[in-house]
This record gives sequence, C-alpha cells and structure tokens, in this order.
Amino acid sequence: MKARITGTGSYAPTRVLTNADLERMVATSDEWIRERTGIRERHIAGAGEACSDLAVQAGTRALAAAGLAATDLDIILVATCTGDYPLPATACLVQHQLGATKAAACDLSAACCGFVYALSVADAYVKTGMRHVLVIGSEVMSAITDWTDRNTCVLFGDGAGAAVISASEGEQGILSTHLRSDGNLCGLIAVPGGGSRTPPSEKVIAERMHCIKMKGHETFKVAVRTLEEIARETLAANHLRVEDLDLYVPHQANVRILKAVMERLGLPIEKVMLNLDRYGNTSAASIPMALDEAVRAGRIKDGSLVMLGAFGAGLTWASAMIRW
Ligand code: ACO
Repeated sequence: MKARITGTGSYAPTRVLTNADLERMVATSDEWIRERTGIRERHIAGAGEACSDLAVQAGTRALAAAGLAATDLDIILVATCTGDYPLPATACLVQHQLGATKAAACDLSAACCGFVYALSVADAYVKTGMRHVLVIGSEVMSAITDWTDRNTCVLFGDGAGAAVISASEGEQGILSTHLRSDGNLCGLIAVPGGGSRTPPSEKVIAERMHCIKMKGHETFKVAVRTLEEIARETLAANHLRVEDLDLYVPHQANVRILKAVMERLGLPIEKVMLNLDRYGNTSAASIPMALDEAVRAGRIKDGSLVMLGAFGAGLTWASAMIRW
C-alpha cells in the first residue's frame, strides 16, 4: 500500500505586482530584485480575497484532476501561516466551501515547509486506513508583508497549490518523507506580534510587529546547507543517486539559494522546477504550485522520480521522494 498523488491543482490571484511597481513603493530596483532573488513579479490577493478562497480554487482543480468528488475526501489539511482567522481552522472553511461533508479538517503550521509536512501526515493517514486526503498549501503573504520594508516586501507573493493523496497498490506513491526543525533559529524569520506572546495592540501595529521580520543573509546560508543535507539524506534513504532524479521541486524562495544547492548536489538546471520568477515566495503554497505546473507542462509523468525540498521559518526543513 502506498499513498499516491492522484491529482494536483493550483491558483494564483489575478492581480500581478511587478518589480517596476515595487520601484514606486520602496527604494529598490528591478535589476536588484532580479539579480539578488530571481523574482520578476508576484500575484497579490484582491480586497476581500482570503487564504480559504485561494485554497478552494486550488482544491477544486486538484479534485477534478484526480477524478474525485469532494464527498470522497476523508480529511482536508491546509498548510498555511496566513489563515483567514486565528480560529476556526482555514481547512474547515475550505471543507464547507467544497461541500466535503464527510471530511475532517485541520490546519498545519510549518511556514514554507507546511506542504511537505502535511504531505507526510497525509502519507501516514493513508497508510493507517484513510482513502483520500486533500492537502493544500495556501498563503496570502501580502497580509503579513511590511510594504515599507524593502528587505522583505520584494520577496513574497500569494497563491495556493493542492494535491489529492489516495491509497494505491503498486510501486507508485510517496517513497519517503524527511522532516527537521531547529527552534534555536526561531529568530531568523518571525512575525513577532499579534499572537499570545504579544497580543494585538496599537504598538504592535505601529511597529509593524504583525508583519514578517527576517534576517535574510543568515537564513540564506542555513537554507543552502539544510536543503543540501536533506536532499542527500533522502537520496540515501531510498538508495538513489542524484542522476536517478527526473525532477527536483524545491521551495521557491530565491534562485541564488537554489543554484547553490544544485551546484553542491551536481544537479543540472533542466532537472529543477523553477517558477519563482512569476510568483515569488508563496511559502507553503510554493511547492504544490510548482508541482502542479510541472505536471500540467508534462515535466512530471507516470513513473517519474520526483524529490521535493523545503526550508522556512522555525527553522524547519523537509523533503519527500515520490515515484509518480
Ligand atoms: N532593493 C535594493 N537593495 C536592497 C533590497 C532591495 N529590495 N533589500 C536589501 N537591500 C540592500 C541591503 O540593505 C544591503 O545594503 P547594505 O549593504 O548597504 O546594508 C544590501 O542590499 C545587501 O543585503 P543582504 O541582505 O546582504 O543581501 P543578500 O544578498 O543576502 O540578499 C535576500 C537578500 C534576497 C533577502 C537574501 O538574503 C535571501 O533571499 N535570503 C533568504 C530569504 C528566504 O528565503 N527566507 C525563507 C523563507 S520565508 C518563510 O519561511 C515565510
């Protein structure tokens, strides 16, 4: 018995924010953003468009691709750090909108690693008796972005990606998942205000503590190291070599991070799915959005060997090996 991805879907809001638009908002340039990050543009949710709205669109597309009805689902997991509300869980709103009347629903918080963490939960649920799990990574990063901070506001975007994971006989499916965290590095990326440590207040708003603060340079170095380490661990656990991979689908944070990882692993760029130029860093949505694009473009086919790799706030890092 394996947990197999039987359908993927994604959704990006219609509004596009280009680097030229950002030049009018903060002291930055299209050239700096492209050279330092690889990002050209990102999608931004419209007024009133929340995390669950994006998630429902991506989830609907994934269900259609899997040929399933929402009522077939046993559970919906939404990986997000920008849910509609602190409570209820965004997954419950998605469950209602989809009409998934038989499904349980809950959220999972692991920042940019959220989708891979949720995939590992889905894998375990399927191996212990569930038949169909909908995993969605959905983020409205624009809601927690400080649009006056050039260090962070050029990086993030909004979007959602989804995958249906179903019980399946045979060799195809999730081969392994690998999860790590180091809370000692919790200060590298954080939204310091608005939670129980520092509840919402005028001070929190005035000091923009409800927005992402990041030590970009330190994060960069840890990202390269952890992505390389976990990729090697994942290959070794499956007795595979880098040459065996058909596609590496990494978290889309910064093309320079990914180029450094490719170089260290000896992975050619043709075997790496990159779409961050068009979406920026969409946190938990980035891997499932890239996965869906790769599937629909024919870069992932039946039998393809696909490795996922993520890192993010926590710090957390994670990977998965999948025989498609
Ligand atoms: N435009 C122009 N200049 C800028 C901008 C900007 N948008 N942002 C920063 N700079 C300046 C800095 O002020 C600094 O100037 P100084 O030398 O005069 O002080 C200079 O550019 C270099 O800054 P660095 O931080 O050293 O630049 P770096 O090459 O490290 O790139 C970046 C910054 C893009 C943030 C990079 O460090 C990065 O991508 N880090 C990883 C971020 C990440 O992936 N986070 C992960 C997950 S997020 C999550 O989990 C939710």
